[in-house]
Amino acid sequence: MVDDAAAPGVGFDTTVSHSARIWNYWLGGKDNFAVDREAGDKVAAMLPIIVAQARADRAFLGRAIRYLAGQEGMRQFLDIGTGLPTADNTHQGAQRVAPDARIVYVDNDPLVLSHARALLTSSPEGACDYIDADLREPDKILSEAARTLDLTQPVALLLLGVLHHIPDTDQAYTVVRRLVAALAPGSFLAINHSTSAVSGAAMEEAVAHWNKVGTPTMTLRSPEQITRFFDGLDLLEPGVVSCSRWRPDISPLGGQPPQVDEFCGVARKPSPAPATAQPA
Ligand SMILES: C[S@@+](CC[C@H](N)C(=O)[O-])C[C@H]1O[C@@H](n2cnc3c(N)ncnc32)[C@H](O)[C@@H]1O
Repeated sequence: MVDDAAAPGVGFDTTVSHSARIWNYWLGGKDNFAVDREAGDKVAAMLPIIVAQARADRAFLGRAIRYLAGQEGMRQFLDIGTGLPTADNTHQGAQRVAPDARIVYVDNDPLVLSHARALLTSSPEGACDYIDADLREPDKILSEAARTLDLTQPVALLLLGVLHHIPDTDQAYTVVRRLVAALAPGSFLAINHSTSAVSGAAMEEAVAHWNKVGTPTMTLRSPEQITRFFDGLDLLEPGVVSCSRWRPDISPLGGQPPQVDEFCGVARKPSPAPATAQPA
């Protein structure tokens, strides 16, 4: 829930750059400090595509939500690693398609918490909530999300730009498995995760610099490692791809958009296989 004590300037360090605020800077937002702009500019000088990458990530978020609410009829969204509010957040995208959509946001950054009221502007038919929690606390997230979401019904779980902030790969897989296990069949998992599959050493160097100046650190993973998050689920076409190429909007110029080093996928949780009869 939103905590009034978390006023701007309280509970976060303005001398250390931070992922959510650098991201906000690259997206053209105003909720960032000099230290974040400096770190963001330094990374962008090393890897100029990073700004396009942040924007392609956000555009994927918009397309995935439109698809999930529109074509798949999802009415419940659990968005972990929400980021600072921008012009078009998950609830706005979902409720544009389905005004009765219910959204729970989760982030562990005090600055995101202090701006969370901008995320709680639900349509009257739907609902929004915010949980101040860490992705590595899946049980806390699930129990608090159950205030707003009916976990016996399908939920779209969004892990966009957040799993690469968990350094331990086994822990990241365990957390995703725990969250998905708690969701009803027919739920969806959408992931967007940084990699170096496109820019190689330039991306790795930029992330090494990020990890020296910013928090939380980033751990790049290969497309194969990202695909493993979807084990046991039905991965939708086109599979795990650069987020700029996941069902892109048709461009008047034709052709595929350039790839960026954020790979994504969307998958459905299948119904359990019917128990096979044991021979007598
Ligand atoms: C790069 S932003 C992504 C924002 C948004 N999901 C998007 O795709 O545009 C990453 C967000 O994840 C949050 N985050 C990082 N580690 C986290 C953790 N362990 N638990 C919860 N949130 C986390 C950061 O505070 C930040 O707001």
